[in-house]
Amino acid sequence: PPRSAALITTLVGLVYIADVFFGHSTPLTPDVAIQLAVFVAVAAVTAYVASRVKLMGAEREALAGELRQVRLEAADVLRNIPTGIVTVDPEGRLLYTNPAAEAILGFRERDWRDRPIMPEFARVAPEFWAALTATARRGVRAMRVEAVVRRPDRTFPIGVTTTTLDGAPGEGPRVTAIFSDISDSKRLERLRLRTERLEAVAELSSSLAHEIKNPLASIRSSVEQLARASRANPDEKFLTSLIVRESDRLARLLSEFLDFSRVRVTECRPLDLHQVAGAAIRLVREHPDCPADARIELLGDRTPMEGDEDLLHRVVSNLVLNAVQAAGKEARVTVRTGRPEPHQLPGGAGIDNPVALGVSDNGPGIPESVRARLFEPFVTGRVGGTGLGLAIVQRAVDAHRGLVFVDSTPGQGTTFTVYFPAARRREEAA
Ligand SMILES: Nc1ncnc2c1ncn2[C@@H]1O[C@H](COP(=O)(O)OP(=O)(O)OP(=O)(O)O)[C@@H](O)[C@H]1O
Ligand SMILES: [Mg+2]
Repeated sequence: PPRSAALITTLVGLVYIADVFFGHSTPLTPDVAIQLAVFVAVAAVTAYVASRVKLMGAEREALAGELRQVRLEAADVLRNIPTGIVTVDPEGRLLYTNPAAEAILGFRERDWRDRPIMPEFARVAPEFWAALTATARRGVRAMRVEAVVRRPDRTFPIGVTTTTLDGAPGEGPRVTAIFSDISDSKRLERLRLRTERLEAVAELSSSLAHEIKNPLASIRSSVEQLARASRANPDEKFLTSLIVRESDRLARLLSEFLDFSRVRVTECRPLDLHQVAGAAIRLVREHPDCPADARIELLGDRTPMEGDEDLLHRVVSNLVLNAVQAAGKEARVTVRTGRPEPHQLPGGAGIDNPVALGVSDNGPGIPESVRARLFEPFVTGRVGGTGLGLAIVQRAVDAHRGLVFVDSTPGQGTTFTVYFPAARRREEAA
């Protein structure tokens, strides 16, 4: 418009000027000159105003575009974050929810929009309901309160924070709850505790074993010398042999303690976990507890990583031997190595570039009696077991900065999954 306005005014001006000069014989009087000047001035101002209007229009359009973009981005963020967001009005009717909230609490927005949803929350997650209710009634905001979600498919913890938004005048406040599934972080927290506890036990057992070992050896040899003396009668000989036997048993126990406490990465080299697993399986096949018809299958392929071959060998052989021992006759054990999909690791596991080792069996599952203390030393559910296998596995995996998970269903089998970082950290490798 400004350009065409300028053009039109220029053309009209030209016609007017031509008319004044050539259409009339009247000379150019000052009146006419002023008229001409005013005409040109009006044309110029019109063109200027038109150009300003256009500029402002363009700016407004740009602003509207930006606003649209910001709104879209906010909506996108809310739609895609893994954190659940729910807003209810003072009557407990559902005003807003994002897809993560539907997925976590297991409801569908279209079934509940503008309807009282609080009874549903009370049924699925009572603590979540309680936090929302406390915020709505008393204005008490919840900060990272833990609640349990009980859905037909699974039960898991969530962390909930609530806040109020002022509603229409005269109405109570709306309440918004922000929450997320914290089962991964709880799981990792439990693993960290397990590692710390085991570390403390290992330290204590190593210093105790050192303290006891030498006095025990002196006791044993002194008693032996006494028994060798010709004066000893049969009763005394029997007692000394008892002391010697029990000392030997204690010494064996001590060396097992030391064995467990000394699990350390001594030599870290690039290796193929798949190959290490193959070698460990061959070793377990020769074990007296391995039935001849046991089927041990190795799946996956080359899995390069840096680690201590000896320790990794112990990890695999302990897990496979446990699986074979638990499954007994017709044992079917599957060992798998490879790179896990990123979603398989719990969030926040902090393992760069992970490799995985899985050992599954068709045994009876971990007995209830040992489940809570499975990885502690000397916890066994097996006749003749020492209960050191899994404690060593845990320590060896910790030494590689890995994680061990166990899934067990009574009557159906057990799967141990171990994740290792493929490469050592630079400061450790140094
Ligand atoms: N795959 C499995 N299936 C069922 N139960 C298992 C499995 N692995 C381990 N367990 C249970 O966990 C217990 C502890 O295992 P762990 O390897 O630590 O000790 P152990 O096998 O009893 O003795 P050790 O390994 O020192 O000879 C076992 O006694 C068994 O009851
Ligand atoms: Mg074992």
